Amino acid sequence: EKGGFDHFMLKEIFEQPNVIKDTYRGRLHADKGIIQMSGVEDHLEKFLNADRIIIVACGTSWHAGLVAEYIIEEFARVSVEVEYASEFRYRNPIIKSTDVVIAISQSGETADTMAAIKLAKEQGAFVFGVCNVVGSSISRESHAGAYTHAGPEIGVASTKAFTTQITVLTMLALRLAKAKGTLSHSDFHRYLLELELIPEKVKEALGTIDRAKEIAAAFKDAPNCLYLGRGYNFPVALEGALKLKEISYIHAEGYPAAEMKHGPIALIDEQMPVVVIAPKQGHYDKIVSNIQEIKSRSGKIIAVVTKGDTQVRELADYVIEIPETSDALSPLITTIPLQLLSYYIAVYRDCNVDQPRNLAKSVTVE
Ligand code: F6R
Repeated sequence: EKGGFDHFMLKEIFEQPNVIKDTYRGRLHADKGIIQMSGVEDHLEKFLNADRIIIVACGTSWHAGLVAEYIIEEFARVSVEVEYASEFRYRNPIIKSTDVVIAISQSGETADTMAAIKLAKEQGAFVFGVCNVVGSSISRESHAGAYTHAGPEIGVASTKAFTTQITVLTMLALRLAKAKGTLSHSDFHRYLLELELIPEKVKEALGTIDRAKEIAAAFKDAPNCLYLGRGYNFPVALEGALKLKEISYIHAEGYPAAEMKHGPIALIDEQMPVVVIAPKQGHYDKIVSNIQEIKSRSGKIIAVVTKGDTQVRELADYVIEIPETSDALSPLITTIPLQLLSYYIAVYRDCNVDQPRNLAKSVTVE
Protein backbone atom coordinates (compact mmCIF):
# COMPACT_ATOMS: atom_id res chain seq x y z
CA GLU A 1 0.00 0.00 0.00
CA LYS A 2 2.99 2.29 0.60
CA GLY A 3 4.31 1.36 -2.82
CA GLY A 4 7.71 0.33 -1.51
CA PHE A 5 8.20 3.49 0.55
CA ASP A 6 8.76 3.37 4.31
CA HIS A 7 5.97 5.82 5.01
CA PHE A 8 2.92 7.26 3.33
CA MET A 9 4.43 10.70 3.69
CA LEU A 10 7.43 9.79 1.56
CA LYS A 11 5.23 8.03 -0.98
CA GLU A 12 3.04 11.11 -1.20
CA ILE A 13 6.03 13.42 -1.54
CA PHE A 14 7.17 11.30 -4.48
CA GLU A 15 3.73 11.30 -6.05
CA GLN A 16 3.85 15.04 -6.58
CA PRO A 17 5.08 15.08 -10.19
CA ASN A 18 2.16 12.86 -11.18
CA VAL A 19 -0.55 14.44 -9.10
CA ILE A 20 0.34 17.95 -10.19
CA LYS A 21 -0.07 16.69 -13.74
CA ASP A 22 -3.40 15.09 -12.79
CA THR A 23 -4.49 18.41 -11.33
CA TYR A 24 -3.85 20.38 -14.49
CA ARG A 25 -4.86 17.62 -16.93
CA GLY A 26 -7.82 18.71 -19.05
CA ARG A 27 -7.56 22.23 -17.61
CA LEU A 28 -4.25 23.52 -18.87
CA HIS A 29 -3.70 23.52 -22.62
CA ALA A 30 -0.41 25.32 -22.91
CA ASP A 31 -0.05 24.72 -26.65
CA LYS A 32 -3.42 26.36 -27.32
CA GLY A 33 -2.97 29.06 -24.73
CA ILE A 34 -6.07 27.97 -22.86
CA ILE A 35 -6.95 27.39 -19.24
CA GLN A 36 -10.31 25.87 -18.66
CA MET A 37 -11.82 25.11 -15.28
CA SER A 38 -15.55 24.53 -15.40
CA GLY A 39 -16.15 25.85 -11.89
CA VAL A 40 -14.53 29.12 -12.94
CA GLU A 41 -15.99 29.33 -16.47
CA ASP A 42 -19.52 28.89 -15.16
CA HIS A 43 -19.11 31.75 -12.70
CA LEU A 44 -16.59 33.95 -14.41
CA GLU A 45 -18.72 37.06 -13.93
CA LYS A 46 -18.70 36.55 -10.17
CA PHE A 47 -14.93 36.57 -10.20
CA LEU A 48 -14.64 39.50 -12.59
CA ASN A 49 -17.10 41.62 -10.63
CA ALA A 50 -15.49 40.88 -7.28
CA ASP A 51 -13.88 43.81 -5.49
CA ARG A 52 -11.81 41.37 -3.56
CA ILE A 53 -11.23 37.72 -2.89
CA ILE A 54 -11.16 36.40 0.65
CA ILE A 55 -9.39 33.10 1.17
CA VAL A 56 -10.28 31.07 4.27
CA ALA A 57 -8.39 27.97 5.37
CA CYS A 58 -6.39 26.37 8.20
CA GLY A 59 -2.87 25.00 8.56
CA THR A 60 -1.09 23.99 5.39
CA SER A 61 -4.11 24.96 3.30
CA TRP A 62 -3.82 28.45 4.78
CA HIS A 63 -0.21 28.54 3.59
CA ALA A 64 -1.38 27.61 0.09
CA GLY A 65 -3.81 30.52 0.43
CA LEU A 66 -0.94 32.88 1.21
CA VAL A 67 0.96 31.75 -1.88
CA ALA A 68 -2.24 32.27 -3.86
CA GLU A 69 -2.59 35.80 -2.49
CA TYR A 70 0.74 36.74 -4.04
CA ILE A 71 -0.05 35.00 -7.33
CA ILE A 72 -3.63 36.22 -7.76
CA GLU A 73 -2.76 39.82 -6.90
CA GLU A 74 0.20 39.80 -9.27
CA PHE A 75 -1.51 38.09 -12.19
CA ALA A 76 -5.13 39.20 -11.90
CA ARG A 77 -4.71 42.52 -10.00
CA VAL A 78 -7.57 41.86 -7.62
CA SER A 79 -7.01 42.33 -3.92
CA VAL A 80 -6.86 39.17 -1.86
CA GLU A 81 -7.11 38.67 1.88
CA VAL A 82 -6.13 35.43 3.51
CA GLU A 83 -7.81 34.53 6.76
CA TYR A 84 -7.49 31.80 9.32
CA ALA A 85 -10.97 30.30 9.14
CA SER A 86 -11.13 30.13 12.93
CA GLU A 87 -10.45 33.87 13.33
CA PHE A 88 -12.63 34.94 10.45
CA ARG A 89 -15.72 33.13 11.65
CA TYR A 90 -15.64 34.61 15.14
CA ARG A 91 -14.80 38.20 14.48
CA ASN A 92 -17.91 39.50 12.79
CA PRO A 93 -16.06 40.03 9.51
CA ILE A 94 -17.16 42.48 6.85
CA ILE A 95 -18.45 40.41 3.96
CA LYS A 96 -20.18 41.86 0.94
CA SER A 97 -22.26 40.20 -1.73
CA THR A 98 -19.59 41.26 -4.23
CA ASP A 99 -16.92 39.28 -2.39
CA VAL A 100 -15.69 35.95 -3.63
CA VAL A 101 -14.68 33.63 -0.80
CA ILE A 102 -12.31 30.80 -1.63
CA ALA A 103 -12.21 27.97 0.90
CA ILE A 104 -9.16 25.72 0.69
CA SER A 105 -9.33 22.34 2.39
CA GLN A 106 -7.70 19.02 1.62
CA SER A 107 -10.22 16.98 3.59
CA GLY A 108 -13.15 19.26 2.89
CA GLU A 109 -14.27 18.55 6.47
CA THR A 110 -12.41 21.11 8.58
CA ALA A 111 -14.96 22.50 11.04
CA ASP A 112 -13.68 26.09 11.14
CA THR A 113 -13.39 26.36 7.36
CA MET A 114 -16.90 24.97 7.01
CA ALA A 115 -18.28 27.48 9.51
CA ALA A 116 -16.47 30.31 7.71
CA ILE A 117 -18.11 29.53 4.39
CA LYS A 118 -21.54 29.15 5.95
CA LEU A 119 -21.12 32.63 7.38
CA ALA A 120 -19.94 33.98 4.01
CA LYS A 121 -22.93 32.44 2.27
CA GLU A 122 -25.34 33.97 4.77
CA GLN A 123 -23.90 37.37 3.91
CA GLY A 124 -24.40 36.76 0.22
CA ALA A 125 -20.84 36.08 -0.90
CA PHE A 126 -20.02 33.64 -3.67
CA VAL A 127 -18.13 30.65 -2.27
CA PHE A 128 -15.61 28.70 -4.31
CA GLY A 129 -14.14 25.51 -2.79
CA VAL A 130 -10.71 24.08 -3.46
CA CYS A 131 -10.91 20.60 -1.94
CA ASN A 132 -9.19 17.31 -2.48
CA VAL A 133 -11.78 14.87 -1.16
CA VAL A 134 -14.55 14.52 -3.72
CA GLY A 135 -18.03 14.98 -2.30
CA SER A 136 -16.68 16.32 1.00
CA SER A 137 -18.79 18.68 3.13
CA ILE A 138 -16.99 21.85 2.06
CA SER A 139 -17.15 20.92 -1.61
CA ARG A 140 -20.90 20.36 -1.25
CA GLU A 141 -21.47 23.56 0.71
CA SER A 142 -19.60 25.71 -1.87
CA HIS A 143 -21.41 27.31 -4.83
CA ALA A 144 -18.70 26.09 -7.16
CA GLY A 145 -15.17 24.86 -6.96
CA ALA A 146 -12.23 23.02 -8.40
CA TYR A 147 -10.91 19.77 -7.03
CA THR A 148 -7.25 19.14 -6.58
CA HIS A 149 -6.60 15.69 -7.97
CA ALA A 150 -3.98 14.65 -5.46
CA GLY A 151 -5.59 11.32 -4.63
CA PRO A 152 -5.97 10.13 -1.04
CA GLU A 153 -3.51 11.77 1.32
CA ILE A 154 -2.90 9.37 4.20
CA GLY A 155 0.11 10.92 5.93
CA VAL A 156 -1.16 13.40 8.50
CA ALA A 157 1.40 15.95 7.36
CA SER A 158 0.07 17.49 4.19
CA THR A 159 2.42 17.42 1.20
CA LYS A 160 0.88 16.68 -2.18
CA ALA A 161 -2.33 18.42 -1.15
CA PHE A 162 -0.32 21.65 -0.71
CA THR A 163 1.35 21.61 -4.12
CA THR A 164 -1.86 20.65 -5.94
CA GLN A 165 -3.76 23.42 -4.14
CA ILE A 166 -1.15 25.89 -5.39
CA THR A 167 -1.49 24.41 -8.88
CA VAL A 168 -5.26 24.94 -8.92
CA LEU A 169 -4.99 28.46 -7.55
CA THR A 170 -2.27 29.36 -10.07
CA MET A 171 -4.54 28.21 -12.89
CA LEU A 172 -7.37 30.23 -11.41
CA ALA A 173 -5.15 33.33 -11.27
CA LEU A 174 -4.06 32.80 -14.87
CA ARG A 175 -7.64 32.32 -16.04
CA LEU A 176 -8.70 35.55 -14.37
CA ALA A 177 -5.68 37.36 -15.76
CA LYS A 178 -6.64 36.26 -19.24
CA ALA A 179 -10.20 37.49 -18.80
CA LYS A 180 -9.07 40.79 -17.33
CA GLY A 181 -6.12 41.38 -19.61
CA THR A 182 -3.86 41.97 -16.62
CA LEU A 183 -1.03 39.84 -17.99
CA SER A 184 0.49 40.47 -21.37
CA HIS A 185 -0.24 37.86 -23.99
CA SER A 186 3.37 36.71 -23.95
CA ASP A 187 3.61 36.50 -20.15
CA PHE A 188 0.37 34.53 -20.03
CA HIS A 189 1.77 32.06 -22.55
CA ARG A 190 5.08 31.84 -20.79
CA TYR A 191 3.40 30.95 -17.49
CA LEU A 192 1.28 28.28 -19.14
CA LEU A 193 4.37 26.68 -20.61
CA GLU A 194 6.23 27.02 -17.31
CA LEU A 195 3.39 25.38 -15.43
CA GLU A 196 3.46 22.47 -17.81
CA LEU A 197 7.15 21.96 -17.02
CA ILE A 198 6.61 21.93 -13.24
CA PRO A 199 6.09 18.13 -12.85
CA GLU A 200 9.48 17.46 -14.49
CA LYS A 201 11.13 20.04 -12.27
CA VAL A 202 9.47 18.62 -9.17
CA LYS A 203 10.90 15.26 -10.19
CA GLU A 204 14.31 16.83 -10.45
CA ALA A 205 13.87 18.51 -7.06
CA LEU A 206 13.11 15.08 -5.57
CA GLY A 207 16.67 14.25 -6.53
CA THR A 208 17.76 16.36 -3.54
CA ILE A 209 16.82 13.40 -1.32
CA ASP A 210 20.41 12.43 -0.49
CA ARG A 211 21.30 16.00 0.31
CA ALA A 212 18.22 16.22 2.54
CA LYS A 213 19.33 13.07 4.37
CA GLU A 214 22.81 14.45 4.92
CA ILE A 215 21.49 17.75 6.27
CA ALA A 216 18.89 15.96 8.39
CA ALA A 217 21.61 13.85 9.98
CA ALA A 218 23.56 16.99 10.84
CA PHE A 219 20.64 18.85 12.42
CA LYS A 220 18.40 16.15 13.85
CA ASP A 221 19.21 17.14 17.44
CA ALA A 222 18.68 20.86 17.01
CA PRO A 223 16.14 22.17 19.53
CA ASN A 224 15.04 25.03 17.26
CA CYS A 225 15.07 25.98 13.63
CA LEU A 226 14.26 29.13 11.66
CA TYR A 227 12.90 29.24 8.11
CA LEU A 228 13.19 32.40 6.05
CA GLY A 229 11.84 33.36 2.65
CA ARG A 230 10.64 36.45 0.84
CA GLY A 231 7.85 37.15 -1.61
CA TYR A 232 6.26 34.03 -3.03
CA ASN A 233 8.55 31.97 -0.84
CA PHE A 234 7.61 33.59 2.45
CA PRO A 235 4.63 31.21 2.81
CA VAL A 236 6.92 28.33 1.86
CA ALA A 237 9.06 29.25 4.88
CA LEU A 238 5.96 29.03 7.07
CA GLU A 239 5.07 25.68 5.56
CA GLY A 240 8.62 24.35 5.97
CA ALA A 241 8.53 25.27 9.66
CA LEU A 242 5.09 23.73 10.17
CA LYS A 243 6.19 20.48 8.55
CA LEU A 244 9.22 20.25 10.83
CA LYS A 245 7.19 21.04 13.97
CA GLU A 246 4.43 18.59 13.33
CA ILE A 247 6.43 15.49 12.48
CA SER A 248 9.76 15.95 14.29
CA TYR A 249 8.58 17.99 17.31
CA ILE A 250 11.43 20.44 16.83
CA HIS A 251 10.38 23.99 17.51
CA ALA A 252 10.52 25.91 14.26
CA GLU A 253 9.37 29.27 13.03
CA GLY A 254 8.91 30.68 9.58
CA TYR A 255 9.48 34.36 8.92
CA PRO A 256 9.63 36.78 6.04
CA ALA A 257 13.41 37.18 5.82
CA ALA A 258 13.33 40.95 6.31
CA GLU A 259 11.38 40.60 9.56
CA MET A 260 14.33 38.86 11.13
CA LYS A 261 15.93 42.10 12.21
CA HIS A 262 12.74 43.03 14.07
CA GLY A 263 13.22 40.34 16.67
CA PRO A 264 14.15 36.79 15.72
CA ILE A 265 17.73 37.76 14.92
CA ALA A 266 18.27 37.83 18.68
CA LEU A 267 17.91 34.04 18.68
CA ILE A 268 20.74 33.45 16.26
CA ASP A 269 23.91 31.85 17.53
CA GLU A 270 26.10 28.96 16.39
CA GLN A 271 23.46 26.47 17.59
CA MET A 272 20.68 27.83 15.39
CA PRO A 273 20.02 26.27 12.00
CA VAL A 274 18.43 28.73 9.59
CA VAL A 275 16.85 27.41 6.43
CA VAL A 276 16.82 30.15 3.80
CA ILE A 277 14.88 29.89 0.57
CA ALA A 278 17.03 31.79 -1.90
CA PRO A 279 16.20 31.04 -5.53
CA LYS A 280 17.77 33.21 -8.21
CA GLN A 281 14.47 34.74 -9.31
CA GLY A 282 12.83 37.06 -6.86
CA HIS A 283 14.50 39.17 -4.24
CA TYR A 284 17.85 37.48 -4.58
CA ASP A 285 20.12 40.34 -3.52
CA LYS A 286 17.96 41.07 -0.51
CA ILE A 287 18.08 37.45 0.56
CA VAL A 288 21.85 37.39 0.14
CA SER A 289 22.16 40.29 2.57
CA ASN A 290 19.83 38.52 5.00
CA ILE A 291 22.13 35.50 4.77
CA GLN A 292 25.11 37.71 5.52
CA GLU A 293 23.35 38.96 8.63
CA ILE A 294 22.87 35.40 9.85
CA LYS A 295 26.41 34.46 8.97
CA SER A 296 27.93 37.33 10.90
CA ARG A 297 26.09 36.00 13.98
CA SER A 298 27.42 32.48 13.38
CA GLY A 299 24.03 30.92 12.53
CA LYS A 300 24.15 27.68 10.56
CA ILE A 301 22.82 28.35 7.08
CA ILE A 302 20.98 25.79 4.98
CA ALA A 303 20.08 27.45 1.70
CA VAL A 304 17.73 26.34 -1.05
CA VAL A 305 19.23 27.80 -4.22
CA THR A 306 18.85 27.65 -7.97
CA LYS A 307 21.14 25.21 -9.73
CA GLY A 308 24.47 26.82 -10.51
CA ASP A 309 24.25 29.44 -7.76
CA THR A 310 27.65 30.67 -6.58
CA GLN A 311 27.00 33.67 -4.33
CA VAL A 312 24.94 31.94 -1.65
CA ARG A 313 27.08 28.83 -1.86
CA GLU A 314 30.02 30.84 -0.55
CA LEU A 315 28.10 31.90 2.52
CA ALA A 316 25.99 28.86 3.36
CA ASP A 317 26.98 25.81 5.37
CA TYR A 318 24.79 23.61 3.18
CA VAL A 319 23.10 24.29 -0.12
CA ILE A 320 20.29 22.38 -1.78
CA GLU A 321 20.08 22.99 -5.51
CA ILE A 322 16.77 23.07 -7.32
CA PRO A 323 15.87 23.69 -10.97
CA GLU A 324 15.04 27.20 -12.10
CA THR A 325 11.50 28.38 -12.74
CA SER A 326 9.75 31.73 -12.67
CA ASP A 327 9.44 33.47 -9.32
CA ALA A 328 5.65 33.02 -9.12
CA LEU A 329 5.82 29.28 -9.70
CA SER A 330 8.86 28.66 -7.52
CA PRO A 331 6.92 27.61 -4.37
CA LEU A 332 6.00 24.41 -6.21
CA ILE A 333 9.70 23.57 -6.41
CA THR A 334 11.20 25.11 -3.25
CA THR A 335 8.69 23.22 -1.09
CA ILE A 336 10.02 19.82 -2.18
CA PRO A 337 13.42 19.76 -0.45
CA LEU A 338 11.85 21.20 2.71
CA GLN A 339 9.37 18.31 2.79
CA LEU A 340 12.24 15.84 2.40
CA LEU A 341 14.29 17.58 5.07
CA SER A 342 11.55 17.41 7.71
CA TYR A 343 10.76 13.85 6.72
CA TYR A 344 14.31 12.66 7.32
CA ILE A 345 14.76 14.65 10.51
CA ALA A 346 11.61 12.96 11.85
CA VAL A 347 12.84 9.55 10.71
CA TYR A 348 16.23 10.05 12.35
CA ARG A 349 14.50 11.09 15.56
CA ASP A 350 12.39 7.92 15.47
CA CYS A 351 9.17 9.85 15.27
CA ASN A 352 5.92 8.43 14.01
CA VAL A 353 6.03 10.22 10.68
CA ASP A 354 2.62 9.31 9.33
CA GLN A 355 0.78 9.75 12.60
CA PRO A 356 2.40 12.46 14.67
CA ARG A 357 1.27 12.75 18.28
CA ASN A 358 -1.80 14.85 19.03
CA LEU A 359 -2.69 15.40 15.37
CA ALA A 360 -5.62 14.16 13.31
CA LYS A 361 -5.89 14.10 9.54
CA SER A 362 -9.17 15.85 9.54
CA VAL A 363 -10.11 18.37 12.21
CA THR A 364 -13.86 18.11 12.36
CA VAL A 365 -14.15 19.73 15.77
CA GLU A 366 -13.11 23.28 16.49
C1 F6R B 1 -0.48 20.19 8.14
C2 F6R B 1 -1.86 19.73 8.21
C3 F6R B 1 -2.89 20.61 8.79
C4 F6R B 1 -4.01 20.81 7.76
C5 F6R B 1 -5.17 21.60 8.36
C6 F6R B 1 -6.24 21.88 7.33
O1 F6R B 1 0.35 19.27 7.55
O2 F6R B 1 -2.14 18.66 7.75
O3 F6R B 1 -2.36 21.84 9.17
O4 F6R B 1 -3.48 21.45 6.65
O5 F6R B 1 -5.72 20.87 9.43
O6 F6R B 1 -6.80 20.71 6.84
P1 F6R B 1 -7.68 20.72 5.55
O7 F6R B 1 -6.85 21.14 4.42
O8 F6R B 1 -8.17 19.29 5.41
O9 F6R B 1 -8.82 21.68 5.79
